[in-house]
Amino acid sequence: MSPRLIVLSNRIPMEDAEPAGGLVFALHDCLSQQGGVWIGSADVPVSTPADSLTTVGTGTYTRKTFDVTEDDQRDFYLGYANSVLWPLFHRRADLIAMEPRYSEAYRSTNARVAALIARELQPGDLLWVHDYHFLPVARELRRRGIDNRIGYFLHTPFPLAANVPALPERDEFPEWLAAYDLVGLQTERDLAALREYFRGDPAAEIDAAGTIRTADGSFRAIALPIGIDVDAFIAQTDASDGADRLRLDPTERLLIGVDRLDYSKGLVNKFRAFAAYLDEHRAANGPRATLLQIAPPSRGALDAYREIRTELESAAGAINGEHAMIDWTPIRYICRNVPRERVAGLYRRADVGLVTPLADGMNLVAKEYVAAQNPDDPGVLILSHFAGAAEQMGGALLVNPYDEAEMAEAIARALDMPLDERRARHAEMLAGLRSHDIGWWARTYMAELSRPDPSVPGLGAAGQGSGTAA
Ligand code: G6P
Repeated sequence: MSPRLIVLSNRIPMEDAEPAGGLVFALHDCLSQQGGVWIGSADVPVSTPADSLTTVGTGTYTRKTFDVTEDDQRDFYLGYANSVLWPLFHRRADLIAMEPRYSEAYRSTNARVAALIARELQPGDLLWVHDYHFLPVARELRRRGIDNRIGYFLHTPFPLAANVPALPERDEFPEWLAAYDLVGLQTERDLAALREYFRGDPAAEIDAAGTIRTADGSFRAIALPIGIDVDAFIAQTDASDGADRLRLDPTERLLIGVDRLDYSKGLVNKFRAFAAYLDEHRAANGPRATLLQIAPPSRGALDAYREIRTELESAAGAINGEHAMIDWTPIRYICRNVPRERVAGLYRRADVGLVTPLADGMNLVAKEYVAAQNPDDPGVLILSHFAGAAEQMGGALLVNPYDEAEMAEAIARALDMPLDERRARHAEMLAGLRSHDIGWWARTYMAELSRPDPSVPGLGAAGQGSGTAA
């Protein structure tokens, strides 16, 4: 019998709230396929947190939540996780906002969550911790004597070695990682960044098999790009009413962007690039094209998020003011969540998927856009070099999101691309999505986590096992 899987992430799906962000969708697909227990934070703060987990809802896997207080929301989630770690990991150290109480909240929340998990764990269970909210959980569990195998997966980019000293807990950072048995990262680029970081630690050694031995313990690190459930997404696309709801003239070209409203997503650059395309190509009588941008907000209480929202609204307003006609609005900007099944149909209708983040762990929108296409007449993916997905999706038009002229050119090229080329690019990417789907990702990770002997060479150990050739 395979061991029981316990997953920890900050967000878990709640009946009444559509999740924003790819992590929850991906883990939902993964746990739906293989069962297990998913632990995450409760979405409504309480004044006194219970000292046990609460089971919520029903389904193919068990969901349990731990309570959070308003202080936790402010200091742990908005504070340390999203005002220190998120900007640091997304190459925006300039946006770090630090308060001493954030560090304390990060430490205490992780210790409390670890204590709750310690009670849930049975011998032989595998624990899989996700994302930057819970870096210290394994160390807290080891301190409590837990010796289950514990894996970690970072969905964001791994920070640059030169930026890590900006962390108040810079001295503990290697210890946090070393308490895991296996650290999973999205890309070879992230794996290289992790190794680079440990190369700078005189007490650390990276052996030929890829095991990293530090003063605090040993762990393996692998690059394992997260995938999607391709067939489930295609089924959603087939059932979607998204395209009908657009009420777009059939001859009109559509570009789509779906990004959480975040400064790392390059949304303003994207809008400006689209405006540059309109300036250049509309003047030359190019096809009429609309950009539909869906941008569900999160973390809106933080200044950095308020500012990006204002900047984006101002850019959309200015571009529409300049280019709109009585019967055409060039940018349709929706600043709220649209259900995933509706988005699936919108992807299919769109001639171009514009995924142009400035920094991104993977970006599953790029993968969903490709899966949603009609293979006989597929749209074109324009993808930033800085999305983790770029390592696998060579069939996209790869762009530099800082270069608006280059992006405008890519839009023109995508809208003009001959059918044969579109089909060839799409077929290549779809084959990669299928061979490296969410099931592959979860199975491979679990197999690696279950493998007890760290000296046996394997995935990532040889620096080549991530399947990124897809
Ligand atoms: C990214 C992170 C996730 C996070 C999601 C949504 O995908 O990697 O951990 O849950 O964004 O962000 P939020 O702060 O709204 O949970």
